[in-house]
Amino acid sequence: MTAIDKKALIEKRVNEGLRGQWYPVCKSVEVKASRPYGTKLLGDKIVLWRDGSGKLRCIEDFCPHRGAPLSYGEVHEGHVACRYHGVVVNGDGVVVRVPAMPECALEGRKAVKSFEVTEANDAVFVYVPSVDRPEAPELVMPDVMSDDAWSGFLCTSVWESNYRYALDNLADPMHGCYLHAESFTLAYGSKQDLMKLDKTDNGFRIERVGQTGENFDWTEFEVYPADMFCFLEIPYPPAAGPGGVFRIIGFVTPMDEHTTKVFFWRMRQVEGMARESWRFLYRAKMEKTHWDVLEQDRVMLEGMPDDARKREMLYQHDLGVSRIRQILTRAAKAQVEAELKQDSVAAE
Ligand code: FES
Ligand SMILES: [Fe+2]
Repeated sequence: MTAIDKKALIEKRVNEGLRGQWYPVCKSVEVKASRPYGTKLLGDKIVLWRDGSGKLRCIEDFCPHRGAPLSYGEVHEGHVACRYHGVVVNGDGVVVRVPAMPECALEGRKAVKSFEVTEANDAVFVYVPSVDRPEAPELVMPDVMSDDAWSGFLCTSVWESNYRYALDNLADPMHGCYLHAESFTLAYGSKQDLMKLDKTDNGFRIERVGQTGENFDWTEFEVYPADMFCFLEIPYPPAAGPGGVFRIIGFVTPMDEHTTKVFFWRMRQVEGMARESWRFLYRAKMEKTHWDVLEQDRVMLEGMPDDARKREMLYQHDLGVSRIRQILTRAAKAQVEAELKQDSVAAE
């Protein structure tokens, strides 16, 4: 393997999404005991459901018989049953029953991949194994999510762009005062600045040098062995009622190379009566405003060509963007090297 081939493999891995990671795939309420839920993760179709005890299960969305999507079927005694000819597969990917054919040899065979799955803060997370990390490490969630002083809402959206653009966008606070200039909460602050980047305990912080607390002025990324998220804060206008800052926590999931699912928890430090009034106000009024802002991001990113990075010209403000890319490339390199090593051992 030449250095060029290896570089291409690393780039491909970054573009498809890192393995060895937990990714949120949907809201908890979307996975039911009555109906399977199909989605995509790193280019693979997967199906999720809850078994008899309410436990989440996740396998490839592929019927071992002839490949029909299991997500078109139904949940039957805690397993998933294919709509096409009724084959029943369990949460370990083993064929349990072939109802159309007595004593069929397929029964008892492990036929499709199964995935580890867990739930945290109203979202379902699936672990994509890597060669160097086949078993799932612990999923690390942001501290404030287990803090009673905070209350929040999860919103998700599917964007027709590569996930890297969503991460780049989050590592780029300077777009706030331009792209979102017309918005309720993001219309403040100066339109010129410099950026600075600092290392933190578990990642980095990218921030505007000239202002803080006026607009979307900084983002922090936390990078753990098996997951990565970011958070930022937006000043809330007095019209949004009592309570502290508004924090957005973001996770980005590569569905495939051209599609991304974003997960944003909109959190506010607000307790007691104020919490109820904020939650009401959020639903009645603020949520729509936040959606409008998110739409501005979506439209912009979907309009960018897939290979924009081949022609882009970065400047000082893109420190965060460069840092994110460096993190992804390093992790992809480690994964590709582990895979090449395994292949060479297997070939000996
Ligand atoms: S394809 Fe699923 S049962 Fe035939
Ligand atoms: Fe934005």
